[in-house]
Amino acid sequence: MKKKIIVANWKMNPKTPSEAKKLYTTIKKEIAPMQKVEVCVCPPFVFLPELAKLGVTRKVSLGAQDVAHVEVGAYTGQVSPCMVSAYKAKTAIIGHSERRATGESNEIVAEKAKHAIRQGMHAVVCVGELVRSEEGDYYTFVRQQLEAVLSVLKKADMKYISIAYEPVWTIGKSAGEALDPQALHEMVLFIRKVITERFGRVTAEEVSILYGGSVKVENAKEFVEVGGVDGLLVGSASLKPKQFVDICKQAIGK
Ligand code: PGA
Repeated sequence: MKKKIIVANWKMNPKTPSEAKKLYTTIKKEIAPMQKVEVCVCPPFVFLPELAKLGVTRKVSLGAQDVAHVEVGAYTGQVSPCMVSAYKAKTAIIGHSERRATGESNEIVAEKAKHAIRQGMHAVVCVGELVRSEEGDYYTFVRQQLEAVLSVLKKADMKYISIAYEPVWTIGKSAGEALDPQALHEMVLFIRKVITERFGRVTAEEVSILYGGSVKVENAKEFVEVGGVDGLLVGSASLKPKQFVDICKQAIGK
């Protein structure tokens, strides 16, 4: 069985560095004995230095929730790959819907993803429709988001890319309001098809596809087993250590 990748997106939480350290320490300790799982904790930028001091392992690493599309310059409020890499963050979430909602276009997301991987990071690129209509036009929407990124990348870059499918209408809800795992399965096949069209089947099969949107203990197992994803992107439940660790266990079938 391939290792499952579980990304913890802390968003703008917790409030203090000491809470962040406590949370990270607990997650690290609980995940340490687990097999077949890799956890990447993505805290707010300002907590990275303190968490980096606590160390990263092969099982628990650090990531950023976003990075700029350039390394230095007049970009107020932005943080670049070299800055977060200095604090052990080797992964970056790119194009999260909460970033896209602030006006980040498909083109900017693509540039950020390209830049992050050229700077030696792994990019978790988020895609997902805002609403789901019966006509199925969300497939076109997701295709556009994907193609924007794929079009600026080379086949060799795909080793450093994961795709997180996060239907925006499922984010921040309860377990029962998340996506139906069978519907997830269909979208996973579609995402692989779009990647296959550009880079071929072998490359498409190698890309990790994650699911995000109200992942909880109750639904994590089905997303992996029925949905067929390689991992999960967990928001609010990643702030509750016990729930988060149980999600990781569910993901690997424990
Ligand atoms: P949620 O967030 O798990 O709280 O729904 C997921 C995300 O936005 O990445």
